[in-house]
Amino acid sequence: MKDQHLKAAYSVLPHHVAIIMDGNGRWAQARGLGRVLGHRQGALAVRRTVEEAARLGIGILTLFAFSSENWKRPQAEVQALMSLFVRTLRSEQDNLRSHDIRTRVVGDVAKFPDKLREAITEVEDATASCGGMRLNIAANYGGRADIMQAVCRLMAEHSALAAPPDEAVFTSLLQVPEDVDLIIRTGGERRLSNFLLWQAAYGELFFSPTLWPDFGADDLHEALQFFASRERRFGMTSAQVRGHRE
Ligand code: FPP
Repeated sequence: MKDQHLKAAYSVLPHHVAIIMDGNGRWAQARGLGRVLGHRQGALAVRRTVEEAARLGIGILTLFAFSSENWKRPQAEVQALMSLFVRTLRSEQDNLRSHDIRTRVVGDVAKFPDKLREAITEVEDATASCGGMRLNIAANYGGRADIMQAVCRLMAEHSALAAPPDEAVFTSLLQVPEDVDLIIRTGGERRLSNFLLWQAAYGELFFSPTLWPDFGADDLHEALQFFASRERRFGMTSAQVRGHRE
């Protein structure tokens, strides 16, 4: 019965969901633990969320794991995050493949330590032929940097164009070349923090007070129910969207 109810609520399931996973540090500090333990617990929430999103039939899930600004954090925390990413990518590889999830890391990965770059290549190769949900892990990613690299590619690859390219061509040059339908931010803050700036143009925004390590299937369902309740007008009137004459 519950499943039937959910199915009805998700007659409009977002194709592309993106999540700003915020609140690991506060989760740990509230328990008198070091911030790194919050990140470790956050990795478990990643596994839960990825599996549930795939089970529900989400097309693309993009997770903000490390922003291009996160290098400013204390060095010990940055190093612990790098090690956690290596361990998690390696330990999740089989699980991702068995769930048919094609996994990519998007962002400027050249700046990462060799071990992490190896782990990224391994998971990308291991899941390259998976045909289910697509998982993007945004690491050393920034929305402005993504736009800038697309501009550079445009100048290099399309310099001979007589007319300015259209939006679809520009979008295709982004590291995440798909619009986002639903953006979820956990941890109570209400901002985009330089995530998917171009792609979020018509995204619905869902802000959850839940700290990321506590995020689970119920929270994802709450966000999806919110999405299903929205009327997406893309600049039109409500009557136009519903196919009524005004
Ligand atoms: C933001 O919370 C979280 C991060 C910068 C790191 C996200 C990392 C994970 C969820 C771990 C594993 C992820 C993958 C994809 C392997 P914060 O530290 O800013 O929290 P705060 O606002 O409470 O300080």
